Amino acid sequence: MLSYSLLAAISLVGFSSAETLFASHYSGQIYTLDLAKSGSAYSLSVASKITGCGALPAWLTYDAAGSMLYCSDETFSGGASISSFKADSKGVLSNAIKASTPQTSKVTTFKLPLTASSKPQQEFTFTMSGPGPNAGRQDAPHPHEVVLGPNGDFLFAPDLGADLIRVWQVVKSTGNLTACPAIKVPAGNGPRHAAFKKMSNGRMVVYVANELANNIAVFRVTYPNGGCPAFQLLEDITPFANNATAPYGTKVAEVHVLADHLYSTVRNDKSFSGNDTVAAFSIDGVTGEVDFVEAQSSWGTYPRTFAINAAGTLLAVGDQTTANVAILSIGSDGALSEEPVANIRLGSAGHAESEDGLSSVVWAE
Ligand SMILES: *[C@@H]1O[C@H](CO)[C@@H](O)[C@H](O)[C@H]1NC(C)=O
Ligand SMILES: *[C@@H]1O[C@H](CO)[C@@H](O)[C@H](O)[C@H]1NC(C)=O
Ligand SMILES: *[C@@H]1O[C@H](CO)[C@@H](O)[C@H](O)[C@H]1NC(C)=O
Repeated sequence: MLSYSLLAAISLVGFSSAETLFASHYSGQIYTLDLAKSGSAYSLSVASKITGCGALPAWLTYDAAGSMLYCSDETFSGGASISSFKADSKGVLSNAIKASTPQTSKVTTFKLPLTASSKPQQEFTFTMSGPGPNAGRQDAPHPHEVVLGPNGDFLFAPDLGADLIRVWQVVKSTGNLTACPAIKVPAGNGPRHAAFKKMSNGRMVVYVANELANNIAVFRVTYPNGGCPAFQLLEDITPFANNATAPYGTKVAEVHVLADHLYSTVRNDKSFSGNDTVAAFSIDGVTGEVDFVEAQSSWGTYPRTFAINAAGTLLAVGDQTTANVAILSIGSDGALSEEPVANIRLGSAGHAESEDGLSSVVWAE
């Protein structure tokens, strides 16, 4: 009775709410997007846009506590840079500050806040004695992202070029990093992104998206003698057949964990009348191993990044080549909606395997 009258009251006032996202485009634009909800209908629109992340904004990270958006520029010519923007309560960005970063085959740290004259606090430079099995992509070390482990004690960087997961211990009092031995993965895997899960039984697992091998590797993470982490391979799963007719082959791109599900984007499988894939896997509560559950359309091509909102109810996919953000809903059982609840085209479309189109999407939370 109580819940019936509450529901009736909600529908009478036409309940609406809004969430904010940020998306970057290789044209140089950073967009603030409003996702409004009225009843069960969503609408997604551009609220504002700004430049200031250099020529090729490639990756966004949002710090909700400080209301700061960070963006890295992967420009191939001239100097690379990292930028910060302040977000107001509606997600409108201002105060772009850009600092130079050293280029290629490095992981660098910066003390915050950034200033135009910020210099790296630390700089780690990697080298290889020769190219890896995929000479085109593995000509040099290519650390693809940095990701903190679940306790914030260790930082990990999948290195696509060197077939390594590079690891550091974080000295929390100073922000300095102390290098641990890198973890070797099979030659030619091309690790690109990683997502950790701390299981309720205390076991730690990590899911590594291997772009070049087009698979997801599941490792158990242990800390022998309480020190640097070790990875033990539990399984490799390759649920996405290589589509030889699609240009450049099929590639797993990114992975995220939500409760007892793992989600992944897949580029160039073209399984949905030419559109690519977002896939869901269930996670075994004891071992952390995964089973394929379903594939849904990413509602565009070349899904480079995706992000799940804090409530765990919406998944935003950034399709690079079609330059759109499509938002799928996630059911309480982890199932993805077949149709997007909202979908928006941003800027110009890109070209297969080029640094153009949409690069990154994150929720402002
Ligand atoms: C951090 O490490 C750098 C060298 O990588 C060193 O010069 C600096 O003193 C360290 N900072 C602190 C606070 O320990
Ligand atoms: C493979 O990709 C082509 C486009 O390049 C597409 O037409 C075809 O349907 C895809 N095949 C499968 C099995 O997804
Ligand atoms: C593919 O994605 C585009 C862009 O979102 C959309 O307009 C189109 O309807 C999609 N087609 C299919 C078959 O999913």
